[in-house]
Amino acid sequence: MHPTFDDRGAWPRTAIHCLLAAGAVMLASMQVARAGTPERLSLDPGWLFLQGDVPLPSIKGKGASYMTTKANETPGPAGADYDDSTWRHVDLPHDWAVEGPFDPDQNRAQGYRPRGIGWYRRYLTLPVTDRGGNIELQLDGVATHSTVWVNGIVVNRNWSGYNGRSIDITPYVRYGKEVNTIAVRVDAEVMEGWWYEGAGMYRHTWLVKRDAVHIATDGIHANPVRKNGRWTLPVTVQVDSSAAAARDAQLDVTLLAPDGRAVARATAPVHVDALHSATATLDLPVRNPRPWTLDKPTLYRVRAVLRDTKGDIDSAETHTGFRTFRFDADRGFFLNGQPTKLQGVAIHQDHAGVGVAVPDSIWEYRMRQLKSMGVNAIRFAHNAPAAEVMDLADRLGILVMDENRNFNTSPDYMQQLTWLVRRDRNRPSVVLWSIFNEEPLQGTEVGYEMARRMVSAIRELDPTRPVTAAMHGGLFSDKGAVQALDVAGINYQVWEYEHFHKTYPNKPVFSSEDTSAFMSRGAYRTDVAQHVVASYDDDAADWGQTQRGSWKHITDHPFMAGGFAWTGLDYRGEPTPHEWPSASSFFGIMDLCAFPKNAYWFRQALWIKDKPVVKLMPHWNWPGKEGQPVKVRVATNAQRVRLLLNGAVVGEKDVATIDMATFDVPYAPGKLEVVAFRDGKEVGRDAVATSGLPARVVLTPDRSALLGDGADAVPVTVSVVDAQGRPVADANVHVTFEADGAGTIIGVGNGDPNSHEPDKAAERSLYNGLAQVIVQGRRAAHGTFTLRARADGLQPAEVALDVRDAGALAVVPEAQPIVRPGTWRSSPPQAERPDPNVAPADNDNNSWAWGDPPLGTPPGDKRWRAFRVSFPLRADHNDGRAHVVLREIAGKAEVWLDGVKLGEKTSFAPGPLALPVPHGSGWRTLTVLVEAEPGKPSGLLGEVLIERGTP
Ligand code: GAL
Repeated sequence: MHPTFDDRGAWPRTAIHCLLAAGAVMLASMQVARAGTPERLSLDPGWLFLQGDVPLPSIKGKGASYMTTKANETPGPAGADYDDSTWRHVDLPHDWAVEGPFDPDQNRAQGYRPRGIGWYRRYLTLPVTDRGGNIELQLDGVATHSTVWVNGIVVNRNWSGYNGRSIDITPYVRYGKEVNTIAVRVDAEVMEGWWYEGAGMYRHTWLVKRDAVHIATDGIHANPVRKNGRWTLPVTVQVDSSAAAARDAQLDVTLLAPDGRAVARATAPVHVDALHSATATLDLPVRNPRPWTLDKPTLYRVRAVLRDTKGDIDSAETHTGFRTFRFDADRGFFLNGQPTKLQGVAIHQDHAGVGVAVPDSIWEYRMRQLKSMGVNAIRFAHNAPAAEVMDLADRLGILVMDENRNFNTSPDYMQQLTWLVRRDRNRPSVVLWSIFNEEPLQGTEVGYEMARRMVSAIRELDPTRPVTAAMHGGLFSDKGAVQALDVAGINYQVWEYEHFHKTYPNKPVFSSEDTSAFMSRGAYRTDVAQHVVASYDDDAADWGQTQRGSWKHITDHPFMAGGFAWTGLDYRGEPTPHEWPSASSFFGIMDLCAFPKNAYWFRQALWIKDKPVVKLMPHWNWPGKEGQPVKVRVATNAQRVRLLLNGAVVGEKDVATIDMATFDVPYAPGKLEVVAFRDGKEVGRDAVATSGLPARVVLTPDRSALLGDGADAVPVTVSVVDAQGRPVADANVHVTFEADGAGTIIGVGNGDPNSHEPDKAAERSLYNGLAQVIVQGRRAAHGTFTLRARADGLQPAEVALDVRDAGALAVVPEAQPIVRPGTWRSSPPQAERPDPNVAPADNDNNSWAWGDPPLGTPPGDKRWRAFRVSFPLRADHNDGRAHVVLREIAGKAEVWLDGVKLGEKTSFAPGPLALPVPHGSGWRTLTVLVEAEPGKPSGLLGEVLIERGTP
């Protein structure tokens, strides 16, 4: 392959000597093969963003039509040279919808926020040592429909906001000083759900550099199998090649125990043809591995190294875990042989302050909160979460019902499904694949035919996990999806549990969704007009049940494998049972900040068996209600509870298994305490105390240190206490924040579904005593980060966080755009000086040649030639101070811009020329007339650039 000249399509084969020399230098650099270490670099920082679309003028005429339909000549912001000088700088993950205002005319389901269309662009360079390797662009999640261009060439389209893409961009990139442009158009007007979906490039973005022969992305399949009491790890590895010729290599796969010890190993030869894939199959026997359990989720690493006679070529790693599970039609779910009810929640993916652009560390906080509630399973509704979230499930010991978004068997959608299975099939957390949620076709023959195809596609990639779907009808039709499923999921219809089990005695079943109960965190008086729901667990949607009620239906039926409560966490949109001004859900067991509502304690009491749970509600600030009865409820797994008000017993009773214990207590300020007993012995206590007025703001960070990598984030809880230091549970004061040092505030929230305060702000009101500030360490920063909080009339708070040096960050540096006008037209050699203002006719594609410098002309009788290019000039280069720089012209030359002569080169000898570019508007046309020295080659031998300032 000839690297430069043929690629650019312009260089005549009768090459000029000096250029061949330059070409030889480039060939030499090409031969520097990539070293064996693959690089996965973050592309998150350094994007330019424009909210809105860019209308393009309609194209008329042959010339414009001809040009804009060429591979790399995409017009507008998709093009390599578009003027984005006024666009906003953003780092990913980014959700522009969460920055927007609340608007009653927008879609309630999406949280009353405008979505629309947006554009992103990113510049980067690649060292010449990357040439000959493989370059992959990975976009983990873009909401919702998106198109991607690299250097003006469309490289990918994707119609889902929930699947990742690995795009081989090797053929399109340029190396060395040349700048590459990535452009992404995002259409978030389209929806895939009836919940808040956010808008934009809201997950991570990567650039992966590997050898031309490399292990494919998600190409390692390593899912342990236990047969006859023995474990083996069957491994297949897909090797892809973008190399120019067939290559032979050896694959070496090692299983590493958590302490790093290699515990099993196998090798296999691989032969991969050019531009093809090959698969190696290996088998690793494993002796007595430590099991992956919910309490000790031990993970093993599977490391694959690809090498040839010269050394390592590529390597990749995945993790897996050793566990067994099964669904039993009569007895439910078993993990590692133990009956285990799925204590599950369904969740969406947005969080306070950040929308769907949730930092990984905030996900970890969310998942830890869920785990602490007794959750052992999550249904990511109704779509695949980010890979990092799945990693957390593996690492924290949480089972996953892994759900596909779109019920559709056409190729695009099947690819979304197979992407999910390939990505997640080594994960010990995943115990169910789910192909849909509540599809109207579920009970039809069409539904059956579609489900059958999806099940078969999954089975081919992973024969070990059952396939399910979340159904709310069609369960009993003669032909429907359920006949194609291994395990049935029933949404809400608790009365169908028995019916189903009788009809399908051999099909395991579980509650794929239930509950849909309502609560406003910290509120104890329902106020329909104010859209407030009391937190005693008495209210649910017509189709749902309370936290306690839904779990009762599951425990009453031993064949039910468990259930997934709607929802573990609040989310924006779907503010059922209310509408505007409510903008986020009331369903959450925790609120949008992942602050527990009382539902959390009910779930703990129902789910946690090995330690006492005692939670007393409500708070004890009821001024004006003295002597009146206040409803008191205790969420507990104890057997008996005793209530004391200011030391005097005011009630005592046995705890009902599911309902727990409720009292009416005449209010008197002071301290209300509950003592819980099991077998007559005290096992725990809880208390609430009447507080005074707020006196001091308190900041409580979830962690005291974070990384200075522009990604790590910490939620900080904001609360207030009275003069005695007692929390004021019903405080709603407004607090302002100030950040100083190595970190920054990336969002605020308070869990109030009716709040219209902005997420992106340095202020927030407390909602029933709490608010949250999310702070992030700045990229490449370290030192102290100080967060201060103030509220009128209260003592302020200050907290210092330690921002730690994150070391060298594996990121792709941002590059600056270069204005290199293209595509040039070159007139045929002419005997006379051409008219600089004459262009080839609009319908003439052929009398003038196409291509970019170097544009050389061999010696000949006709010594004149015109070179012409039209290009948009970026605003930041259009200030009258930029220069057109022609690095090397052989021959005399005249340079014309927009019909005006800029200057000339008066000697024949090859040399450079730089001329100032006057301010102008719109497209600029540059014409260079070159006159050859008799008998000598001539032309534009070096690159032509528009450079800012004086060259
Ligand atoms: C279900 C649906 C969920 C959510 C829930 C609210 O029918 O699957 O996505 O809308 O209702 O109760």
